[in-house]
Amino acid sequence: MRKSVVLITGAGGEIGHALVRGLAEGSNVITLDVNPLDPQVAPFVRREFTGSITDTNLLDRILAEFEVDCVFHLAALLSTRAEFTPVTAHHVNVEGTLNLLEFAQREGESHGRNVVFIYPSSIAAYGLPDLETKGRAGRVNEDQFAHPTTMYGCNKLYCEELGRYYARHYKQLSVDVAPRVDFRAIRFPGLISATTVPSGGTSDYAPEMIHAAAKGEPYACFVRPDTTIPFMAMPDAALAIRKLATAPRERLTRTAYNIRGFSRSAAEIRETVLAAFPAAEITYKIDGKRQGIVDSWPADVDDTAARADWGFSPEYDFERAFREYLIPTIGNYYRS
Ligand code: SER
Repeated sequence: MRKSVVLITGAGGEIGHALVRGLAEGSNVITLDVNPLDPQVAPFVRREFTGSITDTNLLDRILAEFEVDCVFHLAALLSTRAEFTPVTAHHVNVEGTLNLLEFAQREGESHGRNVVFIYPSSIAAYGLPDLETKGRAGRVNEDQFAHPTTMYGCNKLYCEELGRYYARHYKQLSVDVAPRVDFRAIRFPGLISATTVPSGGTSDYAPEMIHAAAKGEPYACFVRPDTTIPFMAMPDAALAIRKLATAPRERLTRTAYNIRGFSRSAAEIRETVLAAFPAAEITYKIDGKRQGIVDSWPADVDDTAARADWGFSPEYDFERAFREYLIPTIGNYYRS
């Protein structure tokens, strides 16, 4: 008898860290990551596979041994990193996702139930043509400005559609095949965790600023003070994933949902960090190219559909995220 579990890919990443612990109580979690898991996370996991999502032999082994009911497919190369190696990014972000969708379909066929597939998409799926449009657009909904400028954004947008294909139209001309993937995607804003730091993203200036201040290190912010995108505290991101994974299917009217915590400029974030860590040294050293990427992302997103369909609302607004999560947690984190 195969064992019934949930699979998290990219479990060693930032979202994975937050999700594994939340899920571990009551679920059997198995993980797949290119690197061995952090010793703080590993004890919560029933079985850890170290390897790549591009390795279909490894996925076959997991399929043979485990009955996977739910896939949290978090593994990806983020937006800045992907611009340096776009072909590798496409290989991992698109072909890797295709492998996981195929894996989920075959799991579903073998145990006769749909497999919930949670996919973190991103504000990088948007591409606003210029700052004037960004200023005018306000809160952007899921169907607007879907013209990403980055390889990562293209990958995310396409994989939303690929997931929709697996969920609704898979092998539509074969009479004896039913789609078995229950695909659900969240377009995350920039995420800020108190206990992990991002690597290779373009929204990284906010978490980097906060972590540098907590460590007592100087930081040069790579975007202009007025640069504004939506962000979210990491506990809300993990909460959203769990909430969407358990939402009744019939309530879901979309493939991909915007969510948001708060939208703030780099200058507002800097001021709040300085108020919490008065000795912090935060300057600006603009990287024109990374600035261009963030300028193409919306200043804020419309999360009406997520609120209406699966009842999501974040627990942390900007003030609460700093007061009750980031400042106390990050302080303890670096002290320990
Ligand atoms: N935060 C990610 C990045 O900056 C976007 O999903 O790449």
